[in-house]
Formats: sequence, C-alpha cells, structure tokens
Amino acid sequence: MSNTFYAPDGQRAAKVNDLFATIARRYDLLNDLQSFGLHRLWKRRVVEFAAVKPGDRALDLCCGTGDISFALAKIGAETIGLDFSEKMLEVAKAKSQKSEAGSRNKNPQSVIRNPQFIQGDAQQIPFPDNSFDIVTVGYGLRNLASWEKGLDEMVRVAKPGARLVVLDFGKPPNALWRKIYFAHLKCSVPLIGLLFCGNASAYAYILESLKHYPAQLAVAEKMRGLKLTNIRVINLLGGAMAINFGEKPK
Ligand SMILES: C[S@@+](CC[C@H](N)C(=O)[O-])C[C@H]1O[C@@H](n2cnc3c(N)ncnc32)[C@H](O)[C@@H]1O
Repeated sequence: MSNTFYAPDGQRAAKVNDLFATIARRYDLLNDLQSFGLHRLWKRRVVEFAAVKPGDRALDLCCGTGDISFALAKIGAETIGLDFSEKMLEVAKAKSQKSEAGSRNKNPQSVIRNPQFIQGDAQQIPFPDNSFDIVTVGYGLRNLASWEKGLDEMVRVAKPGARLVVLDFGKPPNALWRKIYFAHLKCSVPLIGLLFCGNASAYAYILESLKHYPAQLAVAEKMRGLKLTNIRVINLLGGAMAINFGEKPK
C-alpha cells in the first residue's frame, strides 16, 4: 500500500521533509506514546556505545528534536546535531534555550554544555573527512533516499578509531513476532498518530519505510564492506529495534 509521505524516487527527500514539518511539534510526545517510553532506553544504549571520552567531538545525524545530541553533550562530548528539517530543528533549539535558562536559574555560575544544531543533508555532510570521534544516527538512515550513501558519509567524517552507532526500527528474525510487531506498526501506531497528532498517514509511514529498508543485517553487512571493526548488531525487543555498532579502523 502506498503512503502519502513515502516516495521511492527523486521525491523522497521532499516528502520526508514534509512529513517531519507536519509532526515536529508533537514528535516527542508521539515517540513516548508509540514506544511506551522505551525509545528513551534505546537512545541511552546508543550513548553508552558512543563511549564518550573527554574532548571527544560528536556528530548526531538526523538529530530531529535532539534527544541523542543532548545526551551526548550532557556527558561531555562537543556535539553537533544535524538535520535537514527546519521545524524539527526549531524544536531542538527551543529545548536547548529552555535547558540553558533552567540551569542559569538554578546556578548562575554554571556552564551548561548544549549541542550546536545545524541544518544539513546527512547524505552530503558539510564537514571534512576525519572530523569526529563519534557519529550517531537515530531513526535516520531508514529515511534517506540512500541509506548506503548515509553510511558512507558517516564513515568519511569519522576519525580513525571513531565509534559509529546506528539506531533504527528493525526486522525481528522470529516470523510470529515480526507479524505481531508489523501489525502494531500497521494499526496501533497510525491510530495513535491520528488521535494525538491528527495524522494517521505520517505514522503509517513508519511501516512503509521499514518495508523498503533492509534493516540491521544489511547495515552490518555494509559496515563490513566499509571495513569497520568490532561490528556488532544489538537486537532490542527481539529485533523490533536494533543498534548497529562499528569502529573506523585506526
Ligand atoms: C524519525 S526522526 C529521528 C529524530 C531523532 N534522531 C530521534 O531519534 O528522535 C528522523 C529525522 O531525520 C531527518 N532527516 C531525514 N532525511 C534527512 C536527510 N537527508 N538529512 C538530514 N536529516 C534528515 C528528519 O528531518 C527527521 O528529523
């Protein structure tokens, strides 16, 4: 079944941009509702895999409203969040201002470390080769016209020894669980989208995009092709979500 926001051709980026402009204001709330709050745990795992060390520079691609960017910055990484959606970045920047104001009220001397948010295309990252110690992408690769190009770019801007972490919807290996999970994405998730965001189609997009995305095993295969080391696939909720991890060789 086709979806208003999914286009397999040259229209892909424009449609995805429309989608996130439509849902930006409600994005955080809907994430909590559709995942029962679990996305917060999964993003925490991403940050653990990033293994931030003092002085590290991190790039969080497709940062959206900034959850992963904020978490990386909070534990000391000098972080840049990059996204092509103006509306999603507006929400991220508003959160940043709010947290700065909150911490200044608590302690006027405190220096809060927030990410820098910039607009850009994850398929043409506006940074030179070997720039970052950490490159993350949460729920982003699946939305790119070419997820392979996105991964190529992640490796290009990563420094030798850098950690690359990808979080996205996955494809559970167990056929019964996959059926149940796809039924959730087909029925409950669009219903939640309709009730709380007034838009079922924007949330039906998740299943449509996942059908066209080869998910965790293909991402691991591509990482092997890119000669990354210490490659790992971490299935969450029986593979309904997955983290792909790899390191750029030194
Ligand atoms: C599902 S959201 C994920 C947001 C955030 N990473 C999170 O985990 O909550 C996907 C984000 O990818 C962004 N995006 C999609 N295609 C992009 C591209 N080619 N370049 C940059 N950002 C892109 C969208 O604007 C959207 O904010």
